[in-house]
Amino acid sequence: MPKGFTLWFTGLSGAGKSTLANRLVEEFRSRSYNVELLDGDEVRTNLSKGLGFSKEDRDTNIRRIGYVAKLLSRNGVIAITAAISPYRDVRDEIRAQTPSFVEVYAECPVAKLAERDVKGLYKKALAGEIKNFTGVSDPYEAPVNPEVSVRTDRETVEESLDKILSYLEEKGFIEAEASCRSGL
Ligand code: ADX
Repeated sequence: MPKGFTLWFTGLSGAGKSTLANRLVEEFRSRSYNVELLDGDEVRTNLSKGLGFSKEDRDTNIRRIGYVAKLLSRNGVIAITAAISPYRDVRDEIRAQTPSFVEVYAECPVAKLAERDVKGLYKKALAGEIKNFTGVSDPYEAPVNPEVSVRTDRETVEESLDKILSYLEEKGFIEAEASCRSGL
């Protein structure tokens, strides 16, 4: 059985977690790995339907995602998660329960995200129309020692993907590709 692992994205809304996660799904599939994506927005329409954004609800959401990711990854699947997961203690709790846990911090300054504002949520949050909005009126606790860190406002998607894939190859989570990616 191939070695499964959990690739845990964390970062603010709009920082690029889903974009990178979706690209990784394609990449792993093309390399014949079994992979599942637990995306924050999608999880909240089924597994976590009805939960809000209080600390308690977010913790419940994250623990559910962590539980499913653990089940998948211990059965040889690459489980990718893409939820804000703003609280360090809960991320570390899941890390402790998950044999192969790779935390990826998708970092981007709030000012940049508010400028881009793809979903129009930062504008509303800054105007006080959305309460407890992560990074604006609710905490985000950055990871202290993430396995991989990407700066999505400075790196291209390809560069960030390269960083993540290189880490996974170096640590033996996935096999190294014969073909060189962008000269690495
Ligand atoms: S988490 O905190 O529980 O990890 P999750 O990733 O599932 O959050 O959901 C975040 C998404 O919900 C955001 O990308 C955004 O589209 C939406 N959202 C709605 N209200 C909030 C809020 N108060 N804070 C953050 N995101 C919110």
